[in-house]
Amino acid sequence: MPFSFPSPPTIPARHFQPVFEGSRRFLVDGEIRTWGGHCSAVESCVMLREGSSEPRRHLLGELPQHDAETALEGLEGAVRAWDRGRGEWPTMEVRGRLEAVRRFASAMKERREACARLIMWEIGKTLKDAEKEFDRTVEYIEATLQALKELDRAGNRFSIDGGIVGMIRRAPLGVTLCLGPFNYPLNETFATLIPAIIMGNPVVMKLPRYGALCVLPLLEAFRDSFPRGVVNTVSGDGATTAGAIQKSGKVDVLAFIGSSRAADALKLGHPAPHRLRCITGLGAKNPAFVLPDADLDLAVAECLSGALSFNGQRCTALKHLFVHRSLADAFVSRLADAVSRLPLGLPWEDGARITPLPEHGKPDRLRGLVEDAVSKGARIVNAGGAEHRGTWFRPAVVAGVTSAMQLWSVEQFGPVVPVSVYDGEEELFDYVVQSPYGQQASIFGRDAARVGPLVDAMMNQLCRINLNAACQRGPDSFPFTGRKGSAEGTLSVSDALRAFSIRAMVAAKEGSEQVVSEILMKRTSRFLRTDFIF
Ligand code: G3H
Repeated sequence: MPFSFPSPPTIPARHFQPVFEGSRRFLVDGEIRTWGGHCSAVESCVMLREGSSEPRRHLLGELPQHDAETALEGLEGAVRAWDRGRGEWPTMEVRGRLEAVRRFASAMKERREACARLIMWEIGKTLKDAEKEFDRTVEYIEATLQALKELDRAGNRFSIDGGIVGMIRRAPLGVTLCLGPFNYPLNETFATLIPAIIMGNPVVMKLPRYGALCVLPLLEAFRDSFPRGVVNTVSGDGATTAGAIQKSGKVDVLAFIGSSRAADALKLGHPAPHRLRCITGLGAKNPAFVLPDADLDLAVAECLSGALSFNGQRCTALKHLFVHRSLADAFVSRLADAVSRLPLGLPWEDGARITPLPEHGKPDRLRGLVEDAVSKGARIVNAGGAEHRGTWFRPAVVAGVTSAMQLWSVEQFGPVVPVSVYDGEEELFDYVVQSPYGQQASIFGRDAARVGPLVDAMMNQLCRINLNAACQRGPDSFPFTGRKGSAEGTLSVSDALRAFSIRAMVAAKEGSEQVVSEILMKRTSRFLRTDFIF
């Protein structure tokens, strides 16, 4: 299947994304402003050919490259909204916060088409997957509303122990800096943003370098749904903007999904990192282990989608396959065949499975990893694997990967599938132990006597083991986290509410709790109360 560089008239009008007006807008302290300073061009990963000229990335807009001063204005918006914990939002009754988030979700739903199309054009997610990302985000918000009601109801009681009567509730933590990744610019960003907000924390949201535009159609919804300063946006160079925000020492919570290098820089940029609550989702190189008795068809199908959905640009992607020597040849040839048949396509085309890559220089970096492996004895086993042009990169199955090659340890985050052969299960365990990551693994096998002990051996190194299935984050009611360099904190609908809050209590000595009763009766406190939200 050839690489496609369409000319604009051939693109169906309903799918075309012209330059997005309003990409210079940002939200600070309740006000949508237009940035007059330096901007960077936002270019699609889709390259268009106009006339006889060489294909070029389609221009989608320009994104503010905020300076430190502007980033700090966004921070000050959040600091004012927090107002030492006494701001309108952090002290608002849960009922009010639920209502505001509900308002936001319903305004957001009206922007579905605009957001999904921007995701599709900027980062090359297929239209179907871009819409799925949007819908999953709305579902996440709705599930969060339910989860908060349950959490609040659970707080409507007194505990008595050791002569102390106490009411325990979850309280917000403070000013939150939230940074999401390019591969799920809406869903993963909102998976921390929404729980942070709904628990009462004002937020500064730093938009990612790629995938920022899809948030911009929602600025009015943010402004109109929440009190001023609860949501502020900044964009531009991470060190200049988020770096300055961290350096101020005014951030209480850092929610970051991206590379461990950037996470370390942000954390250590805070003058008192010990008081910073961090919730992170970082690197991963989830392996799949194909045991001798695996169902080969199933293993190939799951490894194919696990390794190459969204071109392998998922933190949960299968990034290294280990196949038992007894079925290695059969597995590799079936996988190579399946990969060769994966349709390359433009993101709006039906059936497209492999699409262009958004990151500048990424095809060259992937090619470098493959060349390093090949120079050390590995083989590209699928026809045309690793061919590239412009933003296109044909997926490559690289067989015979050993620990001497970069593909063994580097997180490729793209359409390259390293395959290694193993003989004994101890080798698999060693790989997991030596990995700097600890997110998930997949095990393909049918023999309980073999699979059970392997699960036990690895469970204290990883956080999720998928049996006869590819790795994945969802459903969002399940805990999503990692050990070692992969994550800090746990995300799921209900875990995230805990991550962005702290248990706080009012205590009184048993027998002298009269003031407590009066507070409840006269409803003079928003913390100390027993009203149920249904
Ligand atoms: O990039 C990491 C994402 O959280 C992966 O989520 O498994 O639903 O694709 P997913």
